Amino acid sequence: MDLLRDTDIDPSPLAGKRVAILGYGNQGRAQALNLKDSGIDVVVGLRGGSGSTVEAETSGLQTALLEDAVRSADVVMMLAPDETHAALYREIEPQLRQGAALGFSHGLSVRFGFVEPRPDLDVYMVAPKGPGTALRSLYQQGKGMIGLWAVEQDATGNAHAIALAYGRAIGCARAGLIASTFAEEAEADLFNEQAVVWGGVPALLIAGFETLVAGGVAPEVAYLECVGELHLIAELIEARGIAGMKEVISNTAELGSLLGGTRIVDKDIRKRMTEVLAEVRAGRFADDLRKEKASGYERLEKARAEARTTLLEKTYRQLSGSEN
Ligand SMILES: NC(=O)c1ccc[n+]([C@@H]2O[C@H](COP(=O)([O-])OP(=O)(O)OC[C@H]3O[C@@H](n4cnc5c(N)ncnc54)[C@H](OP(=O)(O)O)[C@@H]3O)[C@@H](O)[C@H]2O)c1
Repeated sequence: MDLLRDTDIDPSPLAGKRVAILGYGNQGRAQALNLKDSGIDVVVGLRGGSGSTVEAETSGLQTALLEDAVRSADVVMMLAPDETHAALYREIEPQLRQGAALGFSHGLSVRFGFVEPRPDLDVYMVAPKGPGTALRSLYQQGKGMIGLWAVEQDATGNAHAIALAYGRAIGCARAGLIASTFAEEAEADLFNEQAVVWGGVPALLIAGFETLVAGGVAPEVAYLECVGELHLIAELIEARGIAGMKEVISNTAELGSLLGGTRIVDKDIRKRMTEVLAEVRAGRFADDLRKEKASGYERLEKARAEARTTLLEKTYRQLSGSEN
């Protein structure tokens, strides 16, 4: 495995350089603040009238309109939502300096052609493997979040050094930076979102909850069993790996997991996982994302409205005392 840590990386390629962070959302906020705390000259580029301007400035960051931030920068990081990258890149391309570095935290928009960077640009990726909130809080604790890095275009000969110095400055190299490619990161990430952690797991929890309730189990009991225990297994897997997790659960739970796991995740599910991966690689999800934006996020808005109304969510609110 090609994994680099702080001590393997030269921070000097970013010395004296100015970094423009475009977008101040989940990743933009965390990366801008981590860069500032690492002593990098940062400006946050925002749209006119952005509600984030005050928040960024209150946190001690300099802000500017997108075009001004880009014009002033040696390194420009695209941290607006992926589906906006095509229009955003068209808007900023004329302001990008010759030989500037253009960075991404996800391979999607380059892998699937949303952005076709000018040939004179260095194009790199540093993709922290987790949300910005955790990237920031880990950095503040003196720790870091593992990330993938890649270079798609090395126009100046400095792209690799800049990518690594950037990954170090946002704290990823404290945990480790693993070499990848835009295509590998984008495909694996989209696959996981659909088939495993963000798509498959919640759907499995809901199906388990609804099966127990249909079988006469009280919703609160079904919730505690099927949803409430998820964080316990996640913590054990993080601390010990999957085999280590199984070593510390009861024989009863271990046998249940052995007999039930492969019965539920059977060869049909693996076949559908293979189909999802093939569709991701063929660009079908990227097309769906483009269409979703063009429709004004119709499917997402409908799903968000419906998601709060289920018995599972009502049970969650009752158990947690949450108003959300
Ligand atoms: N979410 C994560 O934790 C995570 C993890 C790893 C990688 N990534 C990657 O990081 C990138 C950013 O994702 P994110 O979730 O952090 O985004 P996000 O929170 O949705 O980004 C919101 C920010 O983007 C700005 N923005 C929205 N539309 C824009 C447009 N058309 N032009 C310019 N700025 C625009 C918003 O501006 P206003 O302030 O004006 O509203 C806001 O400041 C993506 O490539 C994503 O795949 C995200």
